Amino acid sequence: MRIGLEQSLSVVPGHLPFDIRIYIAGHRGLVGSALWRHFSRAGYRHLIGRDSAELDLRNWGNTLAFFESTRPQVVIDAAARTGGIEANMRQPVDFMSDNLRIQVNLLDAAVATGVERFLFLGSSCIYPKFAAQPISEDALLTGPLEPTNEAYAVAKIAGIEHVTAIRRQYGLPYISAMPTNIYGPQDNFHSSNGHVLPAMIRRFHRAAADGSDCVTCWGTGRPRREFLHADDLADACHFLLEHYDDDQAVNVGTGVDHSIAELAQLVAEVCGYRGEIHWDHTKPDGTPRKLLDIRRMTEIGWTAGIPLQGGIKTTHQWFVEHQEDYRT
Ligand SMILES: NC(=O)c1ccc[n+]([C@@H]2O[C@H](COP(=O)([O-])OP(=O)(O)OC[C@H]3O[C@@H](n4cnc5c(N)ncnc54)[C@H](OP(=O)(O)O)[C@@H]3O)[C@@H](O)[C@H]2O)c1
Repeated sequence: MRIGLEQSLSVVPGHLPFDIRIYIAGHRGLVGSALWRHFSRAGYRHLIGRDSAELDLRNWGNTLAFFESTRPQVVIDAAARTGGIEANMRQPVDFMSDNLRIQVNLLDAAVATGVERFLFLGSSCIYPKFAAQPISEDALLTGPLEPTNEAYAVAKIAGIEHVTAIRRQYGLPYISAMPTNIYGPQDNFHSSNGHVLPAMIRRFHRAAADGSDCVTCWGTGRPRREFLHADDLADACHFLLEHYDDDQAVNVGTGVDHSIAELAQLVAEVCGYRGEIHWDHTKPDGTPRKLLDIRRMTEIGWTAGIPLQGGIKTTHQWFVEHQEDYRT
């Protein structure tokens, strides 16, 4: 593979000039669309995006040709096969194989064409199931993973290691971030395929509209989770590209967690649902607690700004306004 290292690194680290070419991989997804909104509003004029029908990132030849023709200078990898517990359990091969291909192709194409800055997005599921809480970046690879999303997590860990290897072998300032659970506009509101918060919004919204008196949720309601609005994550990604240059992946979260039962209560209130909430204990809970240690991010000067209740309200509003076109 030809390595395009002859190009000088003009943007590292520090302010990203407004005329820089930024490719947001996965720009129609939950995180990618927030990144697109963020950088557009901030005044970046040369954003590049392709949906998966135009460019399947699992295909190496097409990915390299795309990089050669568009010449991005900065890449943010928000493209991935994603899904909730059920999808992860049903299709582990797809979660492993697609994600490995997507990230390897993006990273190899970036190195080959001299991309100056690259931000790889991992996920908090890369940490061991019983990691000490809050989970510090040092917990990576210190214990067994949560089995329900092990294939996805292993692919993501490979992505982090790939970024570190590129830093060591080629000296490029590529970085990784580990976001906590993300929610917001463009989320996957599918009731069984999606993540917990949007699936709850859909279920409680329907129940309120139908006047139902009982909603059943998966598991015991006891696991604790942290939720970050996608617009906050987009802001954090921009901040990291300008201020962070280190081998170690950095956690991005709010530093606050809630039980799934508390979350259900909050979503029910926002949706105007007043019936009972039943917990189906035959369904798996997943990891008991997942709260990220965000000290590293705080120390370098970034904190989240969107409160959970307000974020759920605007996400519910978006769901109501886009009932015809959200993903099913
Ligand atoms: N959501 C979370 O809670 C969360 C938490 C932590 C980390 N993350 C990370 O953030 C990243 C983005 O997640 P997300 O929630 O935004 O996912 P998402 O909403 O499902 O979006 C994924 C994006 O990836 C694109 N994509 C999937 N397969 C592709 C392929 N073969 N070729 C080209 N594009 C492809 C999709 O494109 P099309 O729409 O065009 O098909 C979509 O835009 C992932 O790496 C994920 O691990 C997410």
